[in-house]
Amino acid sequence: MVKPKIAPSMLSSDFANLASEAERMLQCGADWLHMDIMVCFHQITSIITLYHMCSNPHMITLIGALQDGAYLDCHLMVTNPLDYVEPLGEAGASGFTFHVEVSKDNWQELIQRIKSKGMKPGVALKPKTPVEEVYPLVEDENPVEMVLVMTVEPGFGGQKFMPETMEKVRALRKKYPSLDIEVDGGLGPSTIDIAASAGANCIVAGSSVFGAPEPAQVISLMRKSVDE
Ligand code: DX5
Ligand code: ZN
Repeated sequence: MVKPKIAPSMLSSDFANLASEAERMLQCGADWLHMDIMVCFHQITSIITLYHMCSNPHMITLIGALQDGAYLDCHLMVTNPLDYVEPLGEAGASGFTFHVEVSKDNWQELIQRIKSKGMKPGVALKPKTPVEEVYPLVEDENPVEMVLVMTVEPGFGGQKFMPETMEKVRALRKKYPSLDIEVDGGLGPSTIDIAASAGANCIVAGSSVFGAPEPAQVISLMRKSVDE
């Protein structure tokens, strides 16, 4: 049986107090801390600004040092994940999940390099990407150990859960009974049951946990739903 892993997304935390926010979530019962690593281009007239958001390797190091032993579940929303393997491995990341859409030519090398750095490799797919695209990565002799099904378009917290993505979760669970299947985007008390009954066991939740008066209650409710 797969175990529930509840992973608050630090993207919804108070960035000015990232380390204490991480500690608060662990005290509330979080299993993992979900770290979104993305590069956002904001184009305003002719000025292009590049933001390296939330969880750059320095932040991973900081949280890793302060929360010794915490599982840092890193979700790479970048076009060049290979460039991040070395720095995130050194920074103390635990899981390294790259997107299949940008790794068609080098996923075998990526998996091998991620494992050689002691991290758990995972592959993510966007809502419109067919689930079949990840099968070769799960069935390879050096496979990924988790599939992350995006349940919103990647980019922001606080979006609405897309129930049509559950078809992919069901197909994966049927084919791979012991695989870790993660869902990310719009998860909370009102959507957890549909995701858990489809077969997801790793649950990322940003706004529903950080926005709750009692995050511990939300975390425990989601764990219960996966356990049932
Ligand atoms: C979205 C990120 C998510 C996000 C989830 O692109 O990958 O991890 O923080 O936030 P909520 O749970 O608010 O949808
Ligand atoms: Zn994420």
